[in-house]
Amino acid sequence: FATHVSYEKDCSSITPPYEKLLQNLENVRKYLNRPLTLAEKILYSHVVDPDSSFSGSGRIRGDAYLQLHPERVAMQDASAQMALLQFMSASLVQCAVPTSIHCDHLIQAFDGADSDLKRSVVTNQEVFDFLQSAAQKYGIEFWRPGSGIIHQIVLENYAAPGMLMLGTDSHTPNAGGLGMLAIGVGGADAVDAMTGTPWELKAPNIIGVHLTGKLSGWTTPKDLILHLAGKLTVRGGTGSILEYFGPGVASQSCTGLATIANMGAEVGATTSTFPYSSNMRDYLKATGRSAVADAADKAAIQGFLIADKGAEYDEVIEINLSDLEPTINGPFTPDLATPVSQFGKFIQEQGWQDEISAGLIGSCTNSSYEDMTSVADLAKQAKAVGLTTKVPFLCTPGSEQIRATMERDNVISTLEGVGALVLANACGPCIGQWNRTDKKGEDNAILTSFNRNFKSRNDGNSKTMNFLASPTIVTAMAFSGKLSFNPLTDSITLPSGDMFKFTPPSGQDLPTNGFTVGDKSYYPAPTPVPQPEVEVVIKKNSQRLEALEPFRSHFSDADQDLELPIMKVLLRVRGKCTTDHISAAGPWLKYKGHLTNISENLLITATNDEGGEMNVAFDRDTNTSGTIPEIAKRFRDREQPWALIVDDNYGEGSAREHAALQPRFYGCAMILARSFARIHETNLKKQGILPLWLVDKDDYSRIGSGDTLETIGLSDVFADKPGSCIVVKVTKRDGTVFEIPTKHTMSLDQLKWLKAGSALNHIRSTKI
Ligand code: F3S
Repeated sequence: FATHVSYEKDCSSITPPYEKLLQNLENVRKYLNRPLTLAEKILYSHVVDPDSSFSGSGRIRGDAYLQLHPERVAMQDASAQMALLQFMSASLVQCAVPTSIHCDHLIQAFDGADSDLKRSVVTNQEVFDFLQSAAQKYGIEFWRPGSGIIHQIVLENYAAPGMLMLGTDSHTPNAGGLGMLAIGVGGADAVDAMTGTPWELKAPNIIGVHLTGKLSGWTTPKDLILHLAGKLTVRGGTGSILEYFGPGVASQSCTGLATIANMGAEVGATTSTFPYSSNMRDYLKATGRSAVADAADKAAIQGFLIADKGAEYDEVIEINLSDLEPTINGPFTPDLATPVSQFGKFIQEQGWQDEISAGLIGSCTNSSYEDMTSVADLAKQAKAVGLTTKVPFLCTPGSEQIRATMERDNVISTLEGVGALVLANACGPCIGQWNRTDKKGEDNAILTSFNRNFKSRNDGNSKTMNFLASPTIVTAMAFSGKLSFNPLTDSITLPSGDMFKFTPPSGQDLPTNGFTVGDKSYYPAPTPVPQPEVEVVIKKNSQRLEALEPFRSHFSDADQDLELPIMKVLLRVRGKCTTDHISAAGPWLKYKGHLTNISENLLITATNDEGGEMNVAFDRDTNTSGTIPEIAKRFRDREQPWALIVDDNYGEGSAREHAALQPRFYGCAMILARSFARIHETNLKKQGILPLWLVDKDDYSRIGSGDTLETIGLSDVFADKPGSCIVVKVTKRDGTVFEIPTKHTMSLDQLKWLKAGSALNHIRSTKI
């Protein structure tokens, strides 16, 4: 590798304090007398007080609650709004840790980068003004619209081996490609780090993924994670960190590792990480961070950035990279994995049309230089025989740096030469910001190199089947137009009647002439100074932004026994209920900073298990029905606290804290679930909602809308009485009464949030 380094950054605020972390780790080792995994080393070295966290005799992984000091926070423009509104109400003058804001989610894709960007800046002006003014006031780095997608920018600028970082987006783990722990959280967790409050995490289990062999031909890092998602399912990583190790790690580029880490979110993993490698060092140097690479080299020699010999994992998954083949996942769930050789048969068996309607590449998952040059290689091969893509082919570069480097190295012109439309450096179609004009309401199939494929996610059409694949498979299929096309074996018939077969794509992990930064006006000042005199801009009568009113505690001061008030069940939600179901994205994104307006979308795509209809709830007091937000608002207006009964893995999918804020805003006090997704469960706690797990999953169907619920034993849990547990007393509408056992994961600190009405109420009371 001999890339030309075109610039060098000031690394003082982005180099982890390795000496201190190593010292902390020594302290931890006094208590944990065993070899540690890499993830444990990184996590435990960031624990605020090892003496109190590790001195007990109990198990740590999967059991202990850790108080942590993350080193950095990154926020995207949609989730940053609510996080900042919350941070503002904590009344501090600056952020306790370096923090950045990235304008990427609000950019809509219509007809190409330049006009889309201009239009989106106008449409979202008041939000960008708010974010920029808050960034100036509190000393936050502000990445303007067009600068790129949060995770790509973090990888290029801030990520460093051994670092612990929080990001208000579920694909924050992308930065794990540089051998760190980057964890997706809700805005309220980010506010913990920004206010210097220890951030709490239940110590995850560690799943070891042992990689042997080597990827080759058409198989890419994306195929590894698509394959693994099929094995683990969307729940398999819940409560765990995926730690990759073995000889198969070193041969992969840093950006390839980032793709794998990115999609660990699809199996519910807390995050993913890899041992420090020479490819990571090369990437750090190529992105102007030689000082970080040098410091990481030293830390690695001292044993920090790799697992200890003999470290034990909670589970080990073996993957031989040489055995993998390209894989296509979907539709509608990222864990339905089909090897490309079986995909044609799969399509035929389902009776689906053998046709793709669009191919989309790029996003935070797959827009590295390696991805883009591999795709350009295929485009060149196709162009040489006169082919252009058969269907719309859209490309979202991950950052201005990637885009500018692609432009300089003729990658963009090559893609455009075969029909590609290059969109702005932003999320665009990946988050439903795709103004798709064809296929409205029609059955159709798209292929993307993105990471997530819940119904309606890309174009708002629930009939669009969305399949996930590597950028090169998406590209090859866009040329063939057929779902059954297997580029490893199949050929495309040319107009001349000749047959054309792609040769396996070859890309370049780092540009020979170094990266070029592109338009510098997108970049923030390296270490911005807080400007307390700046006024944060919230437009009068804004429909996009609204100052946040603190939630009222469920408990009255006079309440001595600390049980929740008597609740009514609003509805029993059937089956999969992701954060997209609870708080839909797409057109609702514009209300992220306005709780009243965005709450109108509460659970509008959730299915009521009583009757099987979507967005229908029953008001048993008046024997009427309405949409879910309508009935929830009625309960709120009657000051009737309410609860939800939900199925397995409730809240899977993202760190969207609105999915917790909105039910709380309408008066939800408790959610009883067969199981919860980790991030969402924490978000519920932050907003003062009690999440309870049904001990007997069959109890789910015994409780229905209009039933009343009472907690028994919550006051004992508050009092930390040994053996205390929470039982829920159910009074059916016909008067039948029974009790059901539940489990909870509330720590003593989280109980303080519940008592105060929200974590923010608690933080404010401790700062005053
Ligand atoms: Fe954006 Fe999609 Fe990634 S929404 S952050 S490009 S997952």
